[in-house]
Amino acid sequence: MDPRPVGMFDSGVGGLSVLREFQRLAPRERVVYFADTAFFPYGPRDAGEVRKRAFAAARRLADAGAKLIVVACNTASAAAVADLRELFADIPFVGMVPGVKPAARSSRSGRVAILATPGTFGGDLYAAVVAEFGRDAAIEAVSGRDLAELVERGEADSPAAREAVRAALGGAVAAGADTVALGCTHYEFLAPAIEAEFPGVAVLGTSEAVARRARDLLAGRGLEAPPDAAGALDLIVTGNREAFLAVLPRLGFAPRASAETPS
Ligand code: DGL
Repeated sequence: MDPRPVGMFDSGVGGLSVLREFQRLAPRERVVYFADTAFFPYGPRDAGEVRKRAFAAARRLADAGAKLIVVACNTASAAAVADLRELFADIPFVGMVPGVKPAARSSRSGRVAILATPGTFGGDLYAAVVAEFGRDAAIEAVSGRDLAELVERGEADSPAAREAVRAALGGAVAAGADTVALGCTHYEFLAPAIEAEFPGVAVLGTSEAVARRARDLLAGRGLEAPPDAAGALDLIVTGNREAFLAVLPRLGFAPRASAETPS
């Protein structure tokens, strides 16, 4: 048993899709969520810059006493998760990679679209999963232009979002893709818009699997919160905290508890 918090970070609201699942699976855990909104978006930045931000986030979470850190961002995972594991050797890290394997395996048409940021597509992790599982289907890498920005503004369920997902995925779906894998935590909030725009296309995210992995790692290492712990959420926001909080309900996210943490 370990009362210390779990750390999670993302460039903004995207990682809340992982947090939502994690709180459902492990309601007794205290989570410190680091939203690096002052440096949003990570997707178009070069890997060195994202790595620096990932180190800063992990440092802050380690200083907050994190017993495990979830890199709730595919772009940061691509740029930094291997280095983070080396640098913070005593903290277990859970990273993310687009779900190429489940998408390729479940597609009936044999064509899948992977929707992610340029940073994620440029990383070794993505290349590795495509090399390993990409033979099972034709994979189309689709960079989501402006999609994370829409979600960050709380407009995941808007005509603009429908228009943007149509523009991003229309070509791949017309070419026969029957499965879309969401390779960016922000995009998980766009799943309803994608499903509405492309009926019959399966939309697969990885947030739940990542949350489950974090929960199982805690259990496997005896790091779970004590049985009488109530669970809590502390938010660290590097940019405008009020703007961040204002977006949460628009994403259907009601933080269970929120303590003030100075950024
Ligand atoms: N949420 C991040 C991810 O999973 C990307 C959003 C951004 O571009 O900052 O890749």
